[in-house]
Amino acid sequence: ANEASQQPTKVVDIHTHMYPPSYIDILTSRSTIPLVRTFASSPDPRLILLQAEVPSLEGAEASSKPPGRPLTKHYSSLTQKIHFMDTHNIDISVISLANPWLDFLKPFESGSIAESVNTEFSSMCASHPGRLFFFGTLPLTAPLATIEASVTHLKTLKYCRGVILGTSGLGNGLDDPNLRPIFHALADAGLPIFLHPHYGLPNEVWGPRASQEYGHVLPLALGFPMETTIAVARMYLAGVFDAVPALRMILAHSGGTLPFLAGRIESCVLHDGHLMREAKVHATRRTVWEVLRSQIYLDAVIYSEVGLKSAIEASGGADRLMFGTDHPFFPPLGTDEDGEWESVGLNAEAVNKALGKASQEAAGVMGGNAIRVLKLYDE
Ligand code: URA
Ligand code: ZN
Repeated sequence: ANEASQQPTKVVDIHTHMYPPSYIDILTSRSTIPLVRTFASSPDPRLILLQAEVPSLEGAEASSKPPGRPLTKHYSSLTQKIHFMDTHNIDISVISLANPWLDFLKPFESGSIAESVNTEFSSMCASHPGRLFFFGTLPLTAPLATIEASVTHLKTLKYCRGVILGTSGLGNGLDDPNLRPIFHALADAGLPIFLHPHYGLPNEVWGPRASQEYGHVLPLALGFPMETTIAVARMYLAGVFDAVPALRMILAHSGGTLPFLAGRIESCVLHDGHLMREAKVHATRRTVWEVLRSQIYLDAVIYSEVGLKSAIEASGGADRLMFGTDHPFFPPLGTDEDGEWESVGLNAEAVNKALGKASQEAAGVMGGNAIRVLKLYDE
C-alpha cells in the first residue's frame, strides 16, 4: 500500500452546485428561461431552467401546478451547503455554478459577470479553508479574448480546480474548431473540464403528455445523459482528444450513456464508409475506450450498482470515478430537507455494492481519487 492509502479516508463531493445570491438576482430579473418567479400556487419562488418546463410555465398563472422547482435556501446559502456536508459526512466539496451557467448572457456583460461569479466562489472557498474548492465558470458568449482572460483569472484563484462547462460551447457545440484555443488554454493551465448537461433533447421527443403528466423525469433521467453522451461523441469524432492530449474531462452522471454505448460507437466508426474513405480509421487511431481510460474521468452520480459497474469497467478501473451528490437538486420530498437525502444515500450505496463497503477502491471513489486527481490540498 502506498502512503496515501494510510491516510484516514476522506469523503469528497465533486458534483455539487450553488447559485450565488447575485446570480439569483439575475434570474429574478428575467422573463424567459432561465428565470425565478413567484406564483400564487407555491409558497417558495420557483426556479425555471429547462426547455421542458416552458409549456407548464406558459399555462402557469391559470394552473394549480406551479412550474419548475421550489427555490429553497439550499440553492444559494453557503451555510446550508456546509450543513448538508456535515449531515452526510462529506469532508470536502468541489462546488460549481449550476446550469445554465453564463450561457444566456449578452456578449458584452458575460466577461464581467464571470469575473465576479468566480471571485465569489473563490471567497466562499476561502471562508472554509480545506473544506471547499470550486470549478470556475467561463463567459462563453463573450469574445474569445475575454474567455481566455477568464481562464487566466481562474489560474490565479487559489481554490479553483477546473471549470464547469455545458455542451453548447460557443454556440455550435464542443466539436467547434473555434473552441480549440480554449481547450488548449485549459489543458495548459491544468484545469480539467467538468462537463455537465443542461439542454437535453428537443421537447417533441417527450411527446404531448410529458409536460402535464410526467414531471421532470424524461428530460432529467434521459435527456441529460444523452446530451452528455452526444457532446463527448462529437468531440471524439472531431479529434479533439488527439489534438489536445493534455485535456482532461470529468463527465457528469457517470458519462451519461457513454460507458454503455462506447462499444457501439466504436463499431459504427469501424464500419463507416465515409470515415474510411477520409482515412480516419487508421492503425494509430485511439479508440473510444483508450480515450475513456486516459483523458476522461466519470463522476459516480448514477444511483445504481448496475450503472456504476458499467462506468468502472468502461474506465478501466475504479480509480477514474469520483463521488458526487448533485446537491441541491433532488431533495427528499417526503422528509426534512435539513436531514439526510435519499439521493445521496443511493449513490453511496451504489459505490459500496459495486466495490465492497470497506474496500480501498470504494474509498477511492468516495474521496481518494478526487483528492489525487484534483489536488485537493494546499499547493
Ligand atoms: N436538474 C438540473 O437542472 N441540474 C442539475 O444539475 C440536476 C438536475
Ligand atoms: Zn449537476
